[in-house]
Amino acid sequence: MNQLRVGVVGLGWWGKLIVDQLSQCPSVVVVVATDLAAEQGKGFVAERGIDWAESYDSVLALETIDAVILCTPHAAHSAQILQAAKKGKHVFCEKPLALSTQEAHLSIEAMKSRGLKLGLGHEKRFEPPIVKALAIIRDGEIGTPLQMEANFNQDKFLGMSQDNWRFEERNAPAGPLTATGIHLIDLAVAVFGRAKAVTAALGRFSGELRNGDTLGVLVEFAEGGHALISAILATPFSGRFAVYGSSGWIDIRDNAHPENPKGWTMRIARRGAAEESISFSSHPSVRDNLEAFAASILTGAIYPIPTDEMAANVAILEAVVQSTRSGLRVSLA
Ligand SMILES: NC(=O)c1ccc[n+]([C@@H]2O[C@H](COP(=O)([O-])OP(=O)(O)OC[C@H]3O[C@@H](n4cnc5c(N)ncnc54)[C@H](O)[C@@H]3O)[C@@H](O)[C@H]2O)c1
Repeated sequence: MNQLRVGVVGLGWWGKLIVDQLSQCPSVVVVVATDLAAEQGKGFVAERGIDWAESYDSVLALETIDAVILCTPHAAHSAQILQAAKKGKHVFCEKPLALSTQEAHLSIEAMKSRGLKLGLGHEKRFEPPIVKALAIIRDGEIGTPLQMEANFNQDKFLGMSQDNWRFEERNAPAGPLTATGIHLIDLAVAVFGRAKAVTAALGRFSGELRNGDTLGVLVEFAEGGHALISAILATPFSGRFAVYGSSGWIDIRDNAHPENPKGWTMRIARRGAAEESISFSSHPSVRDNLEAFAASILTGAIYPIPTDEMAANVAILEAVVQSTRSGLRVSLA
């Protein structure tokens, strides 16, 4: 097999972007797509020469596909992964993998036990300055990582109908958590590993988004280190990722949202040395992630997000939700 044959499920904002990104991936071909709402996608896929399927079940029944790409609302992900596993299909799931640790473990186990691969829509890991930062941290160049500070803010949901699934507690608990905060949790896990405790506060200060607009999170990690995460859905786009270490620090600013990347600025400080500043030009990180998923199936290459980190991410997500509801610090066993 030299090309992965996929079905795309959900053709809203992100599903359409993914179809167009995949059209530029030589290792992947989109064979079929579906959406619960035919008017959402039938014309879109016809223009691109992709087959339309009437349902997810009929996508999974096809022998002409190897994998599905789930671009559906969050509460659907876990059940859809289990269905795909039963039909022997690999899964690339948009974030978050699940809304509870129990669901995350079931999904990971269902795939692993059948020798199937799981990819996850955390494209920030594939951004060139983040790849460089993680390598610098791994090589000990800034000493022991002590604390991460990061934000991911945007205002794309302002003006959306309030009955959109994005504002439902069952699909998007803790407001900005599943939209943007989850990407920063992924990066925090990549730096520090498993969490031991989470404290979070959620506000609805702008008043427009009924499940909250402003999220502040403190994560304490089992092996040491903290992450301070800010996710706001009522202010214009900004993205920042900084890690402070015992002998230096890294600070990355995004020039634009990942849907339309416009490059990054990275600063690196090492004690006793002149501060370094690097500009990165635009890069298709969403596509890199999809290609890495395809390579893990086609060539056996290691997918850069290990499944134990996927599970650690969802454990933090679940604790954030609990802490915003109780107002308490949540310990993770
Ligand atoms: N990686 C990223 O940076 C990024 C960015 C945006 C969205 N996303 C993720 O993409 C996913 C979809 O988000 P979106 O913004 O495209 O939402 P959306 O509402 O624009 O689109 C979702 C689509 O899924 C369809 N759908 C719902 N249930 C379905 C089902 N059971 N089977 C088939 N289709 C179904 C809906 O009709 C809708 O067209 C979410 O997981 C979201 O978090 C990721």
